[in-house]
Amino acid sequence: MYYSIAVDGPAGAGKSTIAKKIAKDIDFIYVDTGAMYRAIALYFLRKGIDGHDVEKITSECPNIRVTLGYDDQGMQQVFLNEENVTPYLRTEEVGRMASLTSAIPAVREALLDLQRDMAKTSNILMDGRDIGTNVLPDASLKIYLTASSAVRADRRYRELREKGVECDLHQIEKDIIERDRQDMSREIAPLRQAEDAVLVDSSEMTIDQVVSTVIAEFEKRK
Ligand code: DC
Repeated sequence: MYYSIAVDGPAGAGKSTIAKKIAKDIDFIYVDTGAMYRAIALYFLRKGIDGHDVEKITSECPNIRVTLGYDDQGMQQVFLNEENVTPYLRTEEVGRMASLTSAIPAVREALLDLQRDMAKTSNILMDGRDIGTNVLPDASLKIYLTASSAVRADRRYRELREKGVECDLHQIEKDIIERDRQDMSREIAPLRQAEDAVLVDSSEMTIDQVVSTVIAEFEKRK
């Protein structure tokens, strides 16, 4: 029997930052499922396929193989048809395409078994949108991590500015609200808080506070 922790929540809530820290602290394997959807989105972008073309996307899915590996530091690496595409996944363009194409059933089916199988072979902490509600309904602990759209936009804005990228705070917040709407309103596996998930609103919390809150919740369930 392995432990599994599901962390779901909207874009920019800090899921991957806190998930990575927690996984390291308690020695769990971290699975970033958003990166898997991003890898599939990259495939469609490279082929110039329209993200709304459900028929074309569905017919391409059997040609796509996404697999995961880990480097020396334990960082997740995502392979798209054997190519390590990890460096190309964290762009706004890929994120937008992933949000669109992840609403298509064939895309979700392509990843579901792989995600579930990972939980059968190790202690894992998996983050995404539908982990507690759909992928791992029996997870040992479910966290719904959120923050106000203003706080999420502000964090993203600072992150981009630190990298020297020119950006507009209002536009970032608008994009975040649109992504929430898209992820929450799709028919299949929409983003929502599982009934048995612990709600953590990180708007007024530091990263360390969120990490210790989640670890404390896990300790209660061990
Ligand atoms: O967490 P992220 O920004 O890397 O995710 C990119 C998109 O992938 C997100 O907008 C919706 C989709 N996604 C999903 O549908 N289900 C998941 N478990 C994870 C991500």
